[in-house]
Amino acid sequence: MADAGTRQPIGVIGAGYVGLVTAAGFAELGSEVWCVDIDAERIARLQAGEVPIHEPGLAELLTRNRARLHFSTELSGALEHAALLFVAVGTPPTHSGDADLSAVREVVESMPRDDGHALVMKSTVPCGTGAAIKRVLATTGRSGLAYVSCPEFLKEGSAVADFLHPDRVVVGDDDDWAGQAVLDLYEPLEAPLVRTDVASAEMIKLAANAFLATKISFINEIANVCEETGADVVEVARGIGLDARIGPKFLQAGLGYGGSCFTKDVSALKLLAANSGYHFQLLGAVTEVNELQKRRVVSKLQRHLATLAGRQVALLGLAFKPNTDDMRGASSLVLAARLQAEGAHVRAFDPIAEAEARSLMPQLDYASGALEAVRGADAVVLVTEWPEFVALDWAVVAEAMAGNLVIDGRNALDPAAVQAAGLVYEGIGRAPRAAADGPVRGTASEAAR
Ligand SMILES: NC(=O)c1ccc[n+]([C@@H]2O[C@H](COP(=O)([O-])OP(=O)(O)OC[C@H]3O[C@@H](n4cnc5c(N)ncnc54)[C@H](O)[C@@H]3O)[C@@H](O)[C@H]2O)c1
Repeated sequence: MADAGTRQPIGVIGAGYVGLVTAAGFAELGSEVWCVDIDAERIARLQAGEVPIHEPGLAELLTRNRARLHFSTELSGALEHAALLFVAVGTPPTHSGDADLSAVREVVESMPRDDGHALVMKSTVPCGTGAAIKRVLATTGRSGLAYVSCPEFLKEGSAVADFLHPDRVVVGDDDDWAGQAVLDLYEPLEAPLVRTDVASAEMIKLAANAFLATKISFINEIANVCEETGADVVEVARGIGLDARIGPKFLQAGLGYGGSCFTKDVSALKLLAANSGYHFQLLGAVTEVNELQKRRVVSKLQRHLATLAGRQVALLGLAFKPNTDDMRGASSLVLAARLQAEGAHVRAFDPIAEAEARSLMPQLDYASGALEAVRGADAVVLVTEWPEFVALDWAVVAEAMAGNLVIDGRNALDPAAVQAAGLVYEGIGRAPRAAADGPVRGTASEAAR
């Protein structure tokens, strides 16, 4: 895009999903980028031209801009060449549910005493963190270091596209050179800009994730009521989503949200409120609904199959959503553990996330393809709506299964196509189509017919 040399060089600290995409994205826009991570193996792979995470378009971006990207475990190169140091280290939850800021603190401690650098916080941190960091810098003789909050809104699975075409860019700063320099970096993307104070920028990120999580838990509760009342949540979501005040996004009922961000950010915001003396009631319910939603499939299976002991259940998909290998917070973790606790044999397949899944669930039976996963299964559960599962030939699936039950945990399948193959379809919050279905094989209801 822009000519190298005409753009600010930058440093990026933390080469995970956010850091790598940020590094590759700004390199694409013409910046020289010094990317630093404490994970020596990750840096060695990046130096060798490998991409340690699965993110569509990222490999191409890294390859195309290889000459502008410098990977190191040492901060010195970034400090020498760049004034703006983007921080993209992890902020996972602590045992108390608050955000663990130890990696952020480590970065702050490693900053030099000079006036030429700025920390640009991309990591999601509780509101008040920037103020606390500035106090630490002041008391350690580094008040010349500028501080900018620049929260990240990318979505795993479409992170590169989100970086290049953001809905908005939020910059919180003290109205100084650093905030302007960050805005200049983003300027070629022509996105709406929100320049504000540091605390408000921090709260925008937490509020955005909490709102999206609330929307998902809301439609999941509507889905659960639909199951009791005969309505179809897909129709309901279509009907309410056309209202411009509501909008159609994040209204897909399913197995609950997962991923590294929603759970921890909702918890961090709830506890931030509690630590400040306010009881944020709504977020407690959002979390509880989500946890229960991950388990509802187990009761659906039990309702159809009577018992899960000795049953074979195929899980299609394990990643928390399609197009990523990220297993953090994936609904499959809870579902697989519950199924195994009930005595089911769980055979799973994910096109990309198997290596990550194996490290978290070594006890699962992993299949090398969707058809192998469903072979001999009493029931199939769609957990992650990878396109290859949506495009399955259900007649072939029916042939391979021992039973005939398909639970569509993402409402991503065409019920008619599944039923046309002689299978029993059940989604989440979808009107029962019992008339079209035969009995579930291997159950008391079948014997009674
Ligand atoms: N993943 C997302 O979808 C997403 C989206 C928006 C915001 N965020 C936020 O961005 C931050 C990073 O998330 P992520 O998913 O990229 O995390 P990640 O775990 O994928 O990457 C974090 C990286 O930081 C490195 N690191 C840790 N301490 C370090 C240090 N002291 N110096 C240098 N490197 C260090 C780790 O080795 C790791 O590679 C989090 O605060 C997260 O909440 C994530």
